[in-house]
Amino acid sequence: MIIRSAGGPATSEITPRRVWLSRRQWLTGAVAAGAVGMLVPLGRQARAGTLAGATKTRYQVEDKATSLEDVTHYNNFYEFGTDKDEPARRAPGLLRPRPWTVRVEGECAAPATVDVDDLIRSSALEERIYRHRCVEGWSMVIPWVGLPLSAVLDRFQPTSRAKYVAFESLADPAQMPGTRDRTLFPWPYREGLRIDEAMHPLAFLAVGLYGETLPAQNGAPIRLVLPWKYGFKSIKSVVSIRFQEARPETFWNRLAPSEYGFYSNVNPGVDHPRWSQAKERRIGEFLRRPTLMFNGYAEEVAGLYAGMDLKRDF
Ligand code: MTE
Repeated sequence: MIIRSAGGPATSEITPRRVWLSRRQWLTGAVAAGAVGMLVPLGRQARAGTLAGATKTRYQVEDKATSLEDVTHYNNFYEFGTDKDEPARRAPGLLRPRPWTVRVEGECAAPATVDVDDLIRSSALEERIYRHRCVEGWSMVIPWVGLPLSAVLDRFQPTSRAKYVAFESLADPAQMPGTRDRTLFPWPYREGLRIDEAMHPLAFLAVGLYGETLPAQNGAPIRLVLPWKYGFKSIKSVVSIRFQEARPETFWNRLAPSEYGFYSNVNPGVDHPRWSQAKERRIGEFLRRPTLMFNGYAEEVAGLYAGMDLKRDF
């Protein structure tokens, strides 16, 4: 692991070393010279007024919110590159967040492919200020705008066989240069939740942040936010939701199963094989702070894992 004195962890940290090394070789090639997008001002990427009237809810952590600049310029979105500044440089000029549809299928009575704006109307928009903790050891506090995941899922009437929910991101090589090479990463980006995790009131679908439409680099037009889990579970730019009986395969678990478990709940007592999770660096702060169990949401979510050995089933 490469350690930097300031400014957060190295890009190489989340990426298994084998992939990271070949990625460096790949970057020196043609793709490095590819499209570099300009940052489109927030709010210009979707119909004006989409986010009007978001109500503040009880989900407001009191910690100081991370600056908009950091939230939108220090990102992980490998479809646009593995360096933290690449999503902000490339995604706004390349990703087309409208028109956008989401396919909902599998073990449900009312499968459908729906326009994202129709999906957004499933429930009133809320503002929620959540802690956001990356497995790389950095954290932020982000004021999201969005809707409860359960409100969206309920519309499609999952059956009793829907034990899990699988999510997929867009993987369009024309818009996402990082997906052009399918030998390094198993595109599309995939994630999954147990159905009771997905239906938990904290599970959120974000369509904006800081009161504005979600910037491309943060996963426009719609992304998951699961504040008690490591950030990689919060899949961006979702195009597919599937109810299923079997546990879904996930992007990081497939790449490095010993490093990234299915649950990936924030847990200071379970270290990543390459680095400790006991502390974290809040972006914008200098000193490290202790990591909180379930990222500070234990009271709400611990019951989901009652009786499980979280060291073994991490
Ligand atoms: N979703 C997709 N499709 N592709 C990604 O590379 N990165 C994940 C997650 N969702 C990622 C993704 C990781 S590792 C983190 S920490 C968060 O998005 C980062 O979200 P942010 O850039 O909005 O802070």
